[in-house]
Amino acid sequence: MKLPNLKEARNRTSQNVEYVYLKPQNKIKVSNKKYFLKTYGCQMNVHDSEEISYRLENLGYEACSNLEDADLVILNTCAIRENAHDKVFGFLGRCKHLKKIKKDLIVCLCGCMAQEESVALELKEKYPYVDIVFGTHNIHELEEMLESYEGKQDIEVYSYEGKVYENIAYKRDSSIKAWVNIMYGCDKFCTYCIVPYTRGKQRSRKAADILKEVNDLVAAGYQEVTLLGQNVNAYGKDLEEISFARLLEKVAQTNIARIRFVTSHPWDFSDEMIDVIAKYDNIMPYIHLPLQSGSDNVLKRMNRRYTKKEYLELFNKIKKKIKNVAITTDIIVGFPNESDEDFADTLDIVRKCEFDGAFTFIYSPREGTPAALMADDISLRVKEERLQELNNLVNLYSLKNNQKYLNQEVKVLVEGISEKDETKYFGYTENMKLVNITSSQNIIGEIVNVKITEAKSFSLDGEVL
Ligand code: 5AD
Ligand code: SF4
Repeated sequence: MKLPNLKEARNRTSQNVEYVYLKPQNKIKVSNKKYFLKTYGCQMNVHDSEEISYRLENLGYEACSNLEDADLVILNTCAIRENAHDKVFGFLGRCKHLKKIKKDLIVCLCGCMAQEESVALELKEKYPYVDIVFGTHNIHELEEMLESYEGKQDIEVYSYEGKVYENIAYKRDSSIKAWVNIMYGCDKFCTYCIVPYTRGKQRSRKAADILKEVNDLVAAGYQEVTLLGQNVNAYGKDLEEISFARLLEKVAQTNIARIRFVTSHPWDFSDEMIDVIAKYDNIMPYIHLPLQSGSDNVLKRMNRRYTKKEYLELFNKIKKKIKNVAITTDIIVGFPNESDEDFADTLDIVRKCEFDGAFTFIYSPREGTPAALMADDISLRVKEERLQELNNLVNLYSLKNNQKYLNQEVKVLVEGISEKDETKYFGYTENMKLVNITSSQNIIGEIVNVKITEAKSFSLDGEVL
């Protein structure tokens, strides 16, 4: 048993990152066994789940979409806000119930929640029916943990700075677009955020390994890659041989049709990067640029390292230099002791930026982070009112931005049949607008020209040309 430790997770030494090139393992295969995998949280988790699926299917497990059919349940969890926790513990209740009927059912919990000391302890003390717990640093040990499981709870969560594992295989959800990790972890330590503790220090993959993965995806017919990192544009700062801008340029030169990247931190957004995005047609003009707050006072207490003015300058520079760019953001309301003036500053910058979209959250204290210790006299009611007011404003601009596309022609990479309307296809424009498309022919996997016929707040409708 190995339990996580927040103090160790916070540690940052000057030790070099270890690159581990994993070798294929010969494991005992299972037959007639099904797994149910549920993923919470961000794109990293979605991508980690693609690794988990590959590992399980390689062992002989078959995926199932009905919890009741499963022999193995895996919850890949998120720790970013308390409501993510609540959802997972709620789901564990269902697993407990199922275990009473299905004695051999194995329940696993992994991901960011597993990395939290308090959660691991809670699982140890109050949830003995959660059989296997592993963290974000040891997904590659999944097969071993399953093989050695003897009916007694096994918690194996490491808290250390982390390594970089290569030769990871994925069962990708799509054959059209793919996630590609370019770095792991985060060293920014925004005071509200648990990620630097749950994902370890910033570790960049070597450019050669990334480019090989992208070239393999191109050869396999993929049209789009999204380069992934908690702080994607800080890529390379720990390698001192390549910057994110240069990596982006090299990926563009693989000639893959579309390149995206998430998530950028304003602090690391270089002019060199803006120039590269503007120069290459296959780097999509879409930037997710978390603002978090418009108040200098709050930004400082969040340790975001920029001011309202600096964010605006960067925003305007990006808008000016990258043709037809769409910019979305993340905003937190109700950070400890956020005053009415602080919140007014957030509304003001939202009015100035007119974001294409924004993910908005009420601040959620995370145990072990500095902000969780800050005094907070703002009531939940006030925070909820602020969120509502912010959302109303944000939605207004989402609609206004989408309306610009009415009767315009846009290029859409078509991903599949629309979930809401089976007679339509769906895909995304170059600048990440969701479009539902009418077409008499199957256009899945193609980049097509679409005429926009209707604009809503969160999607567009159109006809293939
Ligand atoms: N409370 C609320 N929102 C948070 N985020 C990160 N940590 C917290 C927290 N403790 C938000 C930030 C980040 C997004 C992924 O989640 O806005 O950009
Ligand atoms: Fe969290 Fe800040 Fe790192 Fe983003 S940059 S993962 S918000 S600590």
